[in-house]
Amino acid sequence: METTPWWRDAVVYEIYVRSFADASGDGTGDLAGIRSRLPYLAELGVDAIWLTPFYPSPMADGGYDVADYRDVDPLFGTLADFDALVSDTHAHGLRLIVDIVPNHSSSAHPWFQKALASPKGSEERDRYMFRDTSPSAAQTGRKEPNNWLSTFGGPAWTQVPDGQWYLHLFAPQQPDFNWRNPEVREEFLDILRFWLERGVDGFRIDVAMGLIKAEGLPDTDPGFRSRSPIWSQPEVHDIYRDWRRVLDSYPGERAAVGEVWTDSAEDLALYVRPDELHQSFNFAWLEAPWSATAFRKVVDDTLRSMSSPTWVLSNHDVVRHVTRYGEGSLNPSAGVARGRAALLAMLSLPGSAYLYQGEELGLPEVKNLPPEARQDPIFSRSNGEVLGRDGCRVPLPWSGTQAPYGFGPGGSWLPQPADWADLTAERQAADPSSTLWFYRHALATRRELRGTLPGTISWQDAPGDALFFRRGPLTCVINCGEEAVPLPPHDRVLISSGPLDGTTLPPDTAAWLVQE
Ligand code: NOJ
Repeated sequence: METTPWWRDAVVYEIYVRSFADASGDGTGDLAGIRSRLPYLAELGVDAIWLTPFYPSPMADGGYDVADYRDVDPLFGTLADFDALVSDTHAHGLRLIVDIVPNHSSSAHPWFQKALASPKGSEERDRYMFRDTSPSAAQTGRKEPNNWLSTFGGPAWTQVPDGQWYLHLFAPQQPDFNWRNPEVREEFLDILRFWLERGVDGFRIDVAMGLIKAEGLPDTDPGFRSRSPIWSQPEVHDIYRDWRRVLDSYPGERAAVGEVWTDSAEDLALYVRPDELHQSFNFAWLEAPWSATAFRKVVDDTLRSMSSPTWVLSNHDVVRHVTRYGEGSLNPSAGVARGRAALLAMLSLPGSAYLYQGEELGLPEVKNLPPEARQDPIFSRSNGEVLGRDGCRVPLPWSGTQAPYGFGPGGSWLPQPADWADLTAERQAADPSSTLWFYRHALATRRELRGTLPGTISWQDAPGDALFFRRGPLTCVINCGEEAVPLPPHDRVLISSGPLDGTTLPPDTAAWLVQE
């Protein structure tokens, strides 16, 4: 009998390791902290966890600057802690995927240090993207080898003492690898094997569309993503074909999900061809406003081009969706209500869903962090003009009535708001009307339906700014408008994101209905 691979409809919970739970008391989350909270995650009802980087790192970009791909930073624990976490995770019936950062290393990585110490043209330099000053510098006044900009602000090039420049699509402490160099390719295949041998169920691939740059590194037109010399070059797909062969050579349905930002679902679908990645994040919903028309377009585009879609509302790089959705509404609780409704809609669709830690508590973005507390390089590189991503990375409130709210015995690396006592997991676990209860109920209901629903949906007529769609016996309804709309005919309500009166669907509310 053919069974569905686990990842196809999994609910994966992203753990931003620094901010999840701190066992050591140094104010930073760690692997032992995660272990201690596995029962919480099992009870929440997710299928898998994704750990953001925990490798040795100078932390110039929260660990996305890796100095050693085969170890654990002492801040987070040891390899023995990691092994214990893998086995405990599995004992709790959960899978575990780890983040792999192949586009760039840390500038502290031994390979980059060797490249700096080696001459121009050396093998050591060829592992990274070193280039000479632009030959037209005298005419243009621009010395950098081309006009590429760093995603974090400023030029994407930094000069070294002998006059050459190296490329960094992110911070200067994150030099880009040269993926046309076979040694780099071999090294990463070996790194994948290292973690697969330790029992991980898969990988989340950082900046998956960036590894190969166009030959000659031509100037780019302003704009981002698809069809630029920087992103989504055709040869990047060969890398994932190699990776797929490694994953497939291990038992147990090991899988990879790519962090791929593209302009269209068609471009995204290229990454999940049968011999490439299993999944890629689909950020279209996360980028869509609170609007039935926008949501419907996202769903249509996605289902048209992907047979195994993913859905995501928040992650550690974007403003939390409760805050995004709340903006522009006069109702102070609209963001939380809309966040719950969006979750229900997302969970009713074919494919898998990625949740970001804290969304099950309805956490908002923390906007008023003091400048001296902020650590995101985007904040410092923009001289404070762009706040950056710290506001969605504030350590989780677990219990108690004041900071650090049970995050750990010794404070928290980013300050938590003074008014989070009502948002702790402990407080919400005792309140059946809480967002935590709602998430548990929604995930349990989805689990009960698992395997009974078809892989397609059909739209039903819906009034106003509402969406109604059917997936087999299930009808999902969501109201993005300002007026209540009549509910379609149904026998039972399986779950709703807010109170229902039996006949209408209030604004900012979603529900799952069945007709026997
Ligand atoms: C995407 C990661 O999610 C983000 O946090 C990081 O800053 C960049 N890639 C660079 O590694």
